[in-house]
Amino acid sequence: MAHPSDLIASDIARYLEEQQRKTLLRFITCGSVDDGKSTLIGRLLYESKLIFEDQLAALEADSKKVGTQGGDLDLALLVDGLAAEREQGITIDVAYRFFSTERRKFIVADTPGHEQYTRNMATGASTADLAVILVDARKGVLPQTRRHSYIVSLLGVRHVVLAVNKMDAIGYGRETFEAIVAEYRSFARKLGFEDLLAIPLSALKGDNVTSVSAKMPWYNGPSLMDHLETVEVEGDLLARPFRMPVQWVNRPHQDFRGFSGLVASGRVRPGDALRVAPSGRASRVARVVTADGDLDEAIAGQSVTLVLADEVDVSRGDVLASADSPPAAADQFQATLVWMHEEPMLPGRPYLLKIGTRTVTASVTDLRHKVNVNTLEQVAARQLELNEIGVCNLSTDAPVAFDPYAENRDTGGFVLIDRLSNDTVGAGVLHFALRRAENVHWQALDVTRQSRAVLKGQQPCVLWFTGLSGAGKSTIANLVEKQLFARGRHTYLLDGDNVRHGLNRDLGFTEADRVENIRRVAEVARLMADAGLIVLVSFISPFRAERRLARERMGEGEFIEVFVDTPLEEAEKRDPKGLYRKARQGLIRNFTGIDSPYEPPEHAELVLDTTRLDSEAAAAMVIAELERRGKLAG
Ligand code: ADX
Repeated sequence: MAHPSDLIASDIARYLEEQQRKTLLRFITCGSVDDGKSTLIGRLLYESKLIFEDQLAALEADSKKVGTQGGDLDLALLVDGLAAEREQGITIDVAYRFFSTERRKFIVADTPGHEQYTRNMATGASTADLAVILVDARKGVLPQTRRHSYIVSLLGVRHVVLAVNKMDAIGYGRETFEAIVAEYRSFARKLGFEDLLAIPLSALKGDNVTSVSAKMPWYNGPSLMDHLETVEVEGDLLARPFRMPVQWVNRPHQDFRGFSGLVASGRVRPGDALRVAPSGRASRVARVVTADGDLDEAIAGQSVTLVLADEVDVSRGDVLASADSPPAAADQFQATLVWMHEEPMLPGRPYLLKIGTRTVTASVTDLRHKVNVNTLEQVAARQLELNEIGVCNLSTDAPVAFDPYAENRDTGGFVLIDRLSNDTVGAGVLHFALRRAENVHWQALDVTRQSRAVLKGQQPCVLWFTGLSGAGKSTIANLVEKQLFARGRHTYLLDGDNVRHGLNRDLGFTEADRVENIRRVAEVARLMADAGLIVLVSFISPFRAERRLARERMGEGEFIEVFVDTPLEEAEKRDPKGLYRKARQGLIRNFTGIDSPYEPPEHAELVLDTTRLDSEAAAAMVIAELERRGKLAG
């Protein structure tokens, strides 16, 4: 065979054509540096001869300088060197390396192997067809081996190689190898892998990596490279029902309307009957259009524009699917979630959920349990921390089309995004829709929100007072309510301390509990506004995310956020309930402003600076604001 890089130089067209013809295997390597992961990947790259000459020269020089192999090539340096370069200043957590042999192309995802990098592994595994799980023959199956295996199985990897490395260090002994394999197989039975091949190897010496080693005549299987080159993994996607999440509606002029996207699974031809999910509308494919002309057929992995036979309503985020097996649509799910952010996942907090090309608001309604990824035990939990994995119920604010992840990774996998910072904070897999959602419908009521308001002769709204404990929220809200009452208005004041005696008596002051506290009171405020009331809410409500949630429960102009702006020093000086003193003495934990955060509003409708206004003046400003907004007219 010509050296691939020679072909690049002499006949690039032929090189590219050859590459096109080869099938692609995406795999992930799991293990820690100590297991010999870098050496293994380095050897695969080296032996496939796709290391450029200058890299090779540098490697030889480095091996002499800092290598651990006494002047021999230290292949680990190759991988680690690239990683160091890549990591400078940015946080790309997964390195994807490309290499190819005569038979196949490969993309290997290499992820840091350390315990805290569950999220990186999950990212790498989510696109892999196969996982190489490395075990050090001297150490056998470790908790991390189980963790890696669980994560790859969760992320839908069905083909696994158990690479028992460092066989040279144990004298190539068969018994040790077989004992490790037996232990692993009994554990892996729970994980539903389709095939599992165990290979004894030495990445360092090259045994069974790219060619079968003479040192282990008792092993009858293929070398690792042989297996990677021949293992059957594709076909799956093409055999699945057709799915194409719509990326954009392509409408360059009046006479053309097409839906563009990447075919996620299956195949599509002109004439095929389609269904639009989640709406359920039906149509047929009129044309399959690409930049190079129309196609007779498009298959998974191709980007196309579909023109339909009818004028059906389709928007970005919808899924075009085969009519005879469309995806399900639901707004409540059970899912497994991998948390990827330093800020914990708090049930009740709204996040953006992105599935395919669709983005909706979603929250975890119930964290059922965490998974101890080393033992697979279920552990009770109120929140998920960075790198933790949990099974939860999820609720979205609109129905989404989906398939169980086990059936389709593209239409069953999702990420969660923080609504304020836009960071990706979690990733997960959908298991099934919750039945309860199917059986709970909206009941139409004849007496409407508007008719209730008209009867009371007022415009309902929510006045949301936020600020530190002792800021003066309740005092001001109380004065405002008295004045509204005197003017014959129908009101209700929801006060944090009071509501915590009843509806929210089960909640404390952890972040998770405060999120739930505000979520509930936002729902109650909405119901009361529905009933036609002017609702005053006086809660510390320290987090922007939940105040925003409360705002979004109301219509335009119906939510008036009042920031009772009292600096911590001032609130602490007043200390009306003596709580700051207790908090400073360590008698109260998680006290707002002391050891629990307060996020001041950025766009409050009204800011009351209580260092300059007394309570009466502050209340008068609130009334004036209501008048200015026309809320007290009529
Ligand atoms: S919130 O943060 O969840 O919105 P909420 O307004 O319901 O708080 O309750 C705050 C009231 O609870 C305070 O005014 C104070 O009287 C009392 N409290 C008791 N412990 C704490 C604490 N750790 N942090 C803040 N307030 C506390």
